[in-house]
Amino acid sequence: MKSFSAKFAWFDGKFVRSEEAKVPVMTHAIHYGTSVFEGLRGYWNSKNLNIFRLDDHIKRFRNSGKIYSITLKFTNKEISNAIIWLCKKNNVRQSCYIRPFYFVGEYGINLNVTEKAPTHTAIVMFDFGDLFNKNGIKAGVSSWRRIQDISTPSLAKMGGNYLNSILATQEAKRNGYDESILLDHLGNVSEAPGENIFILRNENIVTPPSSSSALEGITRESVIEIVQNEGYKVIEREIPRTELYLADEVFLTGTAAEITPVISIDGKKVGNGRAGKVTKQISSIYSNITMGKNKKYAHWITAVY
Ligand SMILES: Cc1ncc(COP(=O)(O)O)c(C=O)c1O
Repeated sequence: MKSFSAKFAWFDGKFVRSEEAKVPVMTHAIHYGTSVFEGLRGYWNSKNLNIFRLDDHIKRFRNSGKIYSITLKFTNKEISNAIIWLCKKNNVRQSCYIRPFYFVGEYGINLNVTEKAPTHTAIVMFDFGDLFNKNGIKAGVSSWRRIQDISTPSLAKMGGNYLNSILATQEAKRNGYDESILLDHLGNVSEAPGENIFILRNENIVTPPSSSSALEGITRESVIEIVQNEGYKVIEREIPRTELYLADEVFLTGTAAEITPVISIDGKKVGNGRAGKVTKQISSIYSNITMGKNKKYAHWITAVY
């Protein structure tokens, strides 16, 4: 597949050439991390470009800003139309990643961000394949702890939150792992730097609750619904670190990572050290859904053309 670079971005209500979407150096978000973002995927199935759970991403997009009184100046409908039209304007006919974001603009060094602070909204998109090896990745538990609700709300998808993710990722790579797993402030499993985590143990699928500082991931929620429909029991509960070493299967979920099997943690094999049966089953159902091939989940798909 030929890679593409999008000619157009969407910026404050207008389509502009990508190289013209620029901000002043005194943009508040550059200094203080006051930005909100989402990541969506568009899946090309040779007939149409399917955007996965568009409305749910936009709902979370607005809610993240609400926590910090950062105003999204466009309606949900305006954002979803802008995303669809940006795909059309760029004539995208292959799978892609779509990144809408909004941020506090020129507001001096004022930390009293209110709903009246100036904000800008933009959407960019680019070519994107697999984030990880779909046969499985090696993960290590980070020495950094996940940000928590009592200081930096983990439910808000803010640019600044990802400093924590960056520290954990740097450490994982330094230690020769593909990805890191973060614990919360109590030492329970939270999530990965950009993915939620699930384990399979004693036939049950278990994932940490949002009170363990896990983002309310849209892929996570999709997986919970899919596996329940397949007859599995899903339990949201705290997961102590050592259960990671006893799990039969472990996988990560996220828009970018989709369903990624974890085959070793801290150098110990997960199960038999290969992608597990249940993980593969979920991954295959998920990829059929995103390709628009599963009628039962057609309401999760927005076709661009
Ligand atoms: C910290 C974090 N956790 C989990 C996820 C997975 O969320 P989603 O499935 O909505 O992409 C993401 C990605 O957005 C993330 O950044």
